Amino acid sequence: VEVEWLSVKGACGISYPVAVGPGLLEDAFPGFVTEKGFGRVAVVSNDTVAPLYGEALVERIPGSFLISVPDGEQYKTPATIRMIYDGLLANGADRSTPVVVLGGGVIGDMAGFAAATFMRGVPLVQAPTSLLAMVDASIGGKVGFDLPQGKNLVGAFKDPLAVFADIETLDTLPPEEMRTGMSEVIKAGLIADPPLLDMLVPDDRKRMHYRDRERLGRIIRRAMAVKIGVVEQDRLEGGIRAYLNLGHTFAHALELVTDFRVTHGEAVAVGLVAAARLSERLSLCDGALVGRVESVVQSLRPADGPVGHPIPESGPEDLWAAMQHDKKWRNGRPRFVLLRATGEPVVVEDIPRDAVLEVLERIGEGFATPSGWT
Ligand SMILES: NC(=O)c1ccc[n+]([C@@H]2O[C@H](COP(=O)([O-])OP(=O)(O)OC[C@H]3O[C@@H](n4cnc5c(N)ncnc54)[C@H](O)[C@@H]3O)[C@@H](O)[C@H]2O)c1
Ligand SMILES: [Zn+2]
Repeated sequence: VEVEWLSVKGACGISYPVAVGPGLLEDAFPGFVTEKGFGRVAVVSNDTVAPLYGEALVERIPGSFLISVPDGEQYKTPATIRMIYDGLLANGADRSTPVVVLGGGVIGDMAGFAAATFMRGVPLVQAPTSLLAMVDASIGGKVGFDLPQGKNLVGAFKDPLAVFADIETLDTLPPEEMRTGMSEVIKAGLIADPPLLDMLVPDDRKRMHYRDRERLGRIIRRAMAVKIGVVEQDRLEGGIRAYLNLGHTFAHALELVTDFRVTHGEAVAVGLVAAARLSERLSLCDGALVGRVESVVQSLRPADGPVGHPIPESGPEDLWAAMQHDKKWRNGRPRFVLLRATGEPVVVEDIPRDAVLEVLERIGEGFATPSGWT
């Protein structure tokens, strides 16, 4: 399986490379870091990923040291950012010391923020190890952390020098995390690459295992290309970057009303179907599109997963109320990314409440939900 190189046009027209393929952490990535002639190099990871890949990586990069922080979205806080600053200082980092991020989107966002701010900014290199981080979080330069008041409330834009997505690391990624990443891949296909939707079914749906590495690499590359296309056209999120929010207004509401017992991937999968149904309800598209989205989402679930209504303890009104907190709604005006067709997203404002509630009443109907949130 070949390593492929993509390129992203970032701030001030400066481009950075994105490598995708197997074995990058062994070879190309340490090579790149060494070639750049940095003195010290900080590898920032978490307590799950550091023992798997971080310790071996610092051995391959001369002059590097490892900073490992606790694993989990609940640690995406100012206190953890502080731990990263402390680790940098304790190891003699200065303005020229690059931060190499090794892990999923949580550590990517946090260590990226630390790189954007430590001594007013040091170089950043991304080595995403979760599928979601590869196809979504590591590209586009958004970094930040959570506050008790809400997710991602503080952040910055910080482009990396390069992104190295070693697909071999996905061998150890838990199946539910693969599923979460695949929901974002479906989103990418629906936004701008409909043929991608035909390539996604894993060989083992329960374990989310892709025997054919070549195909997995191709899936990831194409999903990355969609994200790259969107952020290149709208780096600072003024317009079409909103397309990346497809399905997410529904997803965030589901996550909120279930206290995050629903994984992000499950919520996005259901949210993508809901977005298609709302599109049909508003006559933006026909029923065939809804069927298409349902079948793609369904084709990634295990055949023997439970089928049922996802939120027995709360109704459509609770979901509607949860949606009012959507950061991307301007002045509380309902704003959804919908579909005219696969590959044709559109932002629609001021959708009648009744239309949304009709969709919410049937949300999750007819789905296998493997993470057991029924
Ligand atoms: N900056 C952006 O543009 C952007 C976009 C989307 C999401 N995000 C952020 O990304 C975060 C979600 O990212 P995520 O889904 O990667 O979650 P995550 O970083 O929590 O990773 C999921 C889990 O998998 C583990 N893991 C990662 N790689 C592994 C590997 N190779 N083997 C074994 N375990 C591994 C992690 O330690 C973690 O336990 C959220 O905080 C979200 O806000 C940012
Ligand atoms: Zn998402």
